[in-house]
Amino acid sequence: ADPDPLVRAHRAGLPEYRAAVSEHLLRHRGLAAGSVLATGGTTAAVVELAAAVLERGDVVAVEEPGYQRAVQAFRRAGMRVVGVPVDLEGLRPEAIPPDARAVYCSPAHQYPMGSRLSAARRVSLVERARAASMLVIEDDYDGELRFDVAPLPMLASLAPDVVAHLGTTSKILTPTLGAGWMVAPEAITSAVLAYRDSTGTRPSPAGQRVLYEFARNGDLGRHLRKLRREMAERRTLLAGALATAGIPVRGDDAGAHLVVPFSSASVEASVIASAERRGIRLDGLARHFAGTPSAHGVAIGYAGCSREALVAALPTLVSLLR
Ligand SMILES: Cc1ncc(COP(=O)(O)O)c(C=O)c1O
Repeated sequence: ADPDPLVRAHRAGLPEYRAAVSEHLLRHRGLAAGSVLATGGTTAAVVELAAAVLERGDVVAVEEPGYQRAVQAFRRAGMRVVGVPVDLEGLRPEAIPPDARAVYCSPAHQYPMGSRLSAARRVSLVERARAASMLVIEDDYDGELRFDVAPLPMLASLAPDVVAHLGTTSKILTPTLGAGWMVAPEAITSAVLAYRDSTGTRPSPAGQRVLYEFARNGDLGRHLRKLRREMAERRTLLAGALATAGIPVRGDDAGAHLVVPFSSASVEASVIASAERRGIRLDGLARHFAGTPSAHGVAIGYAGCSREALVAALPTLVSLLR
């Protein structure tokens, strides 16, 4: 028999949450989403896609360096993960293996290098995906944050037929909500719903309720405007201080972190250790590689501390990185 419609709605997420996310995507990401599925966040959604849509032994292309939790999610589900190099324009589509069944990427602000996938590569990626019947998993973890640069079309707007778009409240609000969303072709969302039905799982409605209330009374829109302003100012403070000291910076067009490249793994390790002794935790690029690191440097996040703490740390940071 058909599942109870109420249970089905429950598995897909609260209807009011899904409507609020639809509006959010249209307003802030320029995406007219046909149908939105609630998720427990981006990583939880990757785990579901690996379990519900992909099969053991499938080749999955991932950005190298990239988000290792996604890499682990695929590996633990039995997929063969193949790293695709990224450069200043993001992932290189021509380097995706022809037998890849899916590719996972973060076009808005490549994690961790910070590049935005160029328009030409977006087009070539989705063309390749269509030609090879490959699923593109678009992780838009901090896509709401962008500074002084024109928006680029999301992969899900360019090719809704081959893209599973994943968003989250983790960066714009807090990971405590455990609330995210998926916009994907019907075959994909049906498979995820069937997986939830058979495993008795569903994203927690509590975080969805909070987000909905926040969106309904206009607080979400106000918060996003404030967040964008604050992050832009912090980015300017940090990037400005580094540029004045002649320190090269990458990935500061978007998001809430930027990257300072180094010449070697040993420089990376020693700068991180010196910073730790001065009370500053820097994130080395080495841990973001699935294989041997081919780029060195540190990612510096500026969202996790107060603006005062950031300003106070700048002189020390500059002296460590110079
Ligand atoms: C690239 C990337 N994707 C996803 C996430 C987390 O999203 P969620 O908390 O929704 O799993 C992060 C958090 O650091 C991230 O860096």
